[in-house]
Amino acid sequence: MNYYKDWNKHLWPPFTQIATTSPPERVIAGHGALLIRDKAPTLIDGISSWWVTLHGHAEPTVASAIEKQAKQLEQVIFADFIHPQAELLGERLSSLTGLQRLFFSDNGSTAVEVALKMACQWWHNHGEQRTQIIAFEGAYHGDTFGAMALGERNLFNAPFEKMLFPVTRIPWPATWWGDTEIEKKEEFVLSQLDNSLKKPTAAVILEPLVQGAGGMSMVRPVFLQKLEKLVSESGALLITDEVLTGFGRCGTLFAYQRAGIKPDLISLSKGLTGGFLPMGITMASEKIFKAFVGEEPSLTLWHGHSFTANPLGCAAANASLDLLEAHPERYESFESRHLPHLESLANHPKVSKIRLTGTIAAFDLNVPGQQGYLNHAGKALKAYAIEHGVFIRPLGNVVYLLPPLCITDEQLEKCYEVIKSGVDILI
Ligand SMILES: Cc1ncc(COP(=O)(O)O)c(C=O)c1O
Repeated sequence: MNYYKDWNKHLWPPFTQIATTSPPERVIAGHGALLIRDKAPTLIDGISSWWVTLHGHAEPTVASAIEKQAKQLEQVIFADFIHPQAELLGERLSSLTGLQRLFFSDNGSTAVEVALKMACQWWHNHGEQRTQIIAFEGAYHGDTFGAMALGERNLFNAPFEKMLFPVTRIPWPATWWGDTEIEKKEEFVLSQLDNSLKKPTAAVILEPLVQGAGGMSMVRPVFLQKLEKLVSESGALLITDEVLTGFGRCGTLFAYQRAGIKPDLISLSKGLTGGFLPMGITMASEKIFKAFVGEEPSLTLWHGHSFTANPLGCAAANASLDLLEAHPERYESFESRHLPHLESLANHPKVSKIRLTGTIAAFDLNVPGQQGYLNHAGKALKAYAIEHGVFIRPLGNVVYLLPPLCITDEQLEKCYEVIKSGVDILI
């Protein structure tokens, strides 16, 4: 069946082959954890609409902060002016992360691009040409060219392979409940990293604690601590891509804090504005920033976007931080809400590699055939779940839940019930 003719004639959807995918339903509203469809039953949003919706859909305080700001100042060129919402957000994020400088951009990919450019130019400004970048197998950092180059090479970026700069790739020692090999895996990876760091390295980039698109693949804090030690001894800069993991998703405000490491650069987006508006921020330590200051024009970071520090985005981000600060228990205790549901799946014959970090719960389906994103089991489970009122989007045979913080216990229970019955029936 070719669905081409059934799709909207003007819209080009992301990450979707329309020939083999039935057209989506229209969503006309969102409320809390719910997506309200036109002429179809309401769905529980089990994945926060691609991991962005933090507090809930149409959360009223963020919505009114945006409305208020829109009537005050909607946009101003940030190369020549600053504005109160950016100043406030700067003070807050800087005091929350200990990294003093914020550079604004538009999304997660640009927040990563900026971090990468800062790291490379930092060495350049010091008169040292370090070009090696170390990244991890399974990594995903976005879809712009630099971000693609950092990510795992696969079907998604194959057409551009020859145009992507080389990156030194290190295995990612993923772990799960009952993993007895983890020490060995970590030791192996650390020795590979140590070896690679013998070559002068500009930066090491990673998704702290959880690789998202790579399959909700989790590592232990102790691994990241040992990694940080090696990186810092080598002088290379450490970039944590917290586009997914930031803003409470891993049980602490930022995942690097739970991991017990200290990055030089952090990329932020998604939950930054509570998921209301597209915005990226790259946080940099003062050590990084200082190398870009001087009379010589070539020291400047010649990078910017039309909507840099958009006041609506900043107002949304400040309102979202207000909510996180008022209710830290919503993300700090989320893990304990997933836990009993995952425990009840632990002995299921079709379920393996259960893992949990903060608000992110995942497991693999035991299915034959190619493992990973192209495995069809997830697609069938997704269709079943939607039919039963829950929106999930498995990554191939990896099933995960990453709900908005406002999801009720009943709604969370329903997500697990539907997933479990879907696995029982289909897999
Ligand atoms: C860890 C990570 N980095 C970067 C990105 C890219 O963000 P965006 O889609 O906003 O460009 C993503 C998106 O899922 C991500 O998960």
